[in-house]
Formats: sequence, C-alpha cells, structure tokens
Amino acid sequence: MTASTDRIVIFDTTLRDGEQCPGATMTFEEKLDVAHLLDRMGVDVIEAGFPIASNGDFEAVAEIARRTETAIVAGLARAIPADIARCGEAVRFARRPRIHTFVSTSPIHLAHQMRKTEEQVLEIISGTVAQARNLVDDVEWSGMDATRTPIDYLCRAVEAAIRAGATTINLPDTVGYATPDEYRNMFVQVRERVPGADKVIFSTHCHDDLGLAAANSLAGVAGGARQIECTINGIGERAGNAALEEIVMALKVRRDAMPYETGVDSTLLTRASRLVSAATSFPVQYNKAIVGKNAFAHESGIHQDGMLKHSETYEIMTPASVGMSKTSLVMGKHSGRAAFKDKLKALGYELGENALQDAFARFKDLADRKKHVYDEDIEALVDNQIASGND
Ligand code: KIV
Ligand code: ZN
Repeated sequence: MTASTDRIVIFDTTLRDGEQCPGATMTFEEKLDVAHLLDRMGVDVIEAGFPIASNGDFEAVAEIARRTETAIVAGLARAIPADIARCGEAVRFARRPRIHTFVSTSPIHLAHQMRKTEEQVLEIISGTVAQARNLVDDVEWSGMDATRTPIDYLCRAVEAAIRAGATTINLPDTVGYATPDEYRNMFVQVRERVPGADKVIFSTHCHDDLGLAAANSLAGVAGGARQIECTINGIGERAGNAALEEIVMALKVRRDAMPYETGVDSTLLTRASRLVSAATSFPVQYNKAIVGKNAFAHESGIHQDGMLKHSETYEIMTPASVGMSKTSLVMGKHSGRAAFKDKLKALGYELGENALQDAFARFKDLADRKKHVYDEDIEALVDNQIASGND
C-alpha cells in the first residue's frame, strides 16, 4: 500500500491488541460484526487477530478475510516460521492480505525475554520477513519496544526488515513510555538514516500507560509516520492503545494545525464505540473524549447559557459529526435559569415570570438533594406547583 503525503492510513487493532486487554474477549460473531463496521467506516487496515494463538482466532481471521470488502486484513505473527505460515494461511482469503510480524529490539527484551544477541535478532528479522514476503506482497514489520531501543541498533533492525521486503515499518511505544518529542524524533532519525526508508510507510503504535497515546501517535505523524495503529475506545493491553476516535477527530477538527486526512467516516464513531463496548462488556468512561456519555453534555449554568446562544461557545465539533444524536443540557445544581426555561419549553410548559421563578427555586432545592434530575422530576415539580394553584 502506498500513502500520499497527507493521507493517514488508519490501522485498527481492536480485534488483536484490543482483545488482548484482560477480560475483553469477543465471540466469533461479535468479531465479524466489529470487522464489518470497521470496513464500512473506511478503516484502511483491520488487524483481525493472532492466528497462531488458537483455532478460534485462526477461524475469525480467516472469516474476516473472506468477508471484508475494502480494507486490508492483517494477521499478527511472531518472528517464528510456524507463526508466519499459520498467519499466511488465515489471511490468504482476503482481497488484500497483510502479514504483520514483530520481534523485540530493546536491550531489556533481548536480555530477559528473548535471550538472544543483537546479531541473532537481525538474522531472525531477515529470515522471517523474507518468509512472509514469499507468502504475501504486503508485509508489516514491528520492532517491539522500539522506544526503549538505542537508535543505532533500531536503524540496523529497520534496515534488515526493509532489505528483506517489509513494506510497512511499525515503531511501537510498547510500554507507553515515550514523550511526544522523543517519539517524533525517533521517526525523523530512522527515516533519515536508514537506506530505503523512503520506499516504505512508517507506522505508529502507542500504548496509553502515561495517557500520551493519542498525542504520541500524532507526534509520530509529525516525524513522518503515515500509518496510525489504534483501537475503538482505546482498549488494549494494560492502559490500552491510542483511541481511534480521538485520532480521527483530532485530525478532522484540527486540520488547520495538522494537514492530514483519514478515510474514516466519523459519523459511525459512536456506533463503533457502542458495538465494541457491548461486545467486550467494557463500559466507556463517561468523560471519554469523543464517544463518552458526557462528551457533549453541559451542566453548568454558564456553559448551558452559552450553548443556548451558540453551540460553538463550548463545543469544538458537533455531536452529529461523531454520530451522537444531540448535545444534552443536563439538569443539575449547576444549571442556570436559561437552561431550565428551555427544558420546560421542551417538556411543553409555558410558565409566567413569577411561576418560572418559583419553579426554578424548587428545582434548585431538588438538585441540591438529588444527583440526577430527570425530566420526570421536573414534570412532577411543575405539575405539583400547577395543582397547588401556584402557576
Ligand atoms: O505493543 C506492541 O509492541 C505490539 C506489537 C505486537 C506491534 O502490540
Ligand atoms: Zn501493542
């Protein structure tokens, strides 16, 4: 796959890294539903699973590969010949198959996990990437824990992968350790120093251990990466991965500051969020950017008053642009008179000035006692007032 200078390839790994999140396993049918929606949304690459992990994973990747109409379907494989062969078997049904193979490059992983020398790992990279390239034309190679790998060795590893035929090079922040400046700089250095770097697409893959996954992904793009790996709702190992909805909307809303575009239909983001949340039984935190229940809710009087006058006072994107039905002015103790009057109108009440003042005072008393004031509470409050002749 080639990418133009301003087009960002969105690589969704909800079904692989996302599913690795403790407790987030999905059934075969749920995976097919998620993959179908991702394809419809315009995601460029769907990482459908880790075929060697289990027969169930293999079957899911193979079926997603058969059914996906537009997106590239990738499977993950360790740098082990049997993994790569199994992955090749699963993705070969796809219109556009990709094998994604990875190996650790950092000293800590080489010493304690792999127990291999740097030279041995370089040989493994050459052999396994070449094997994958014999099976499919589209091969992604990842240097696991790239951000804790000395730059000289990282450049040698990337060079070995490119020479062996990798078409996408992913440099993950596996443990969510990098800062945005460091992450950007790593891409700048590798792209400057490695022969053939201009022939491949560089990719970001950020974990959220320090809450920097989305910022780091965008910093990677500033450093020349043109693919971003992410998941719906940011699910993934430990604190999760960069959230797809945050990346897509940051690039859409701040195109003035970051002149890149994606092919994702943002009006399907809320639907995707709800589907993944239901499939994994993972609730979406209320204040989650873009898709959280409160992302377009306003409670304070000042904010509600502003929103009633002009939506851009406190919203930088419309709820419709992410597929959410509408802004909600939540009635609570911070709400002001303007929002209360608006709510009464929406509920079908028109009160005179004195009655409105009275109802507002009662509402504030109630809101002090109750965490949530529902429409039914307001209706009961006004109906009581009318019944007692105080309207
Ligand atoms: O976080 C990571 O390094 C990964 C690789 C397998 C790409 O998920
Ligand atoms: Zn990961």
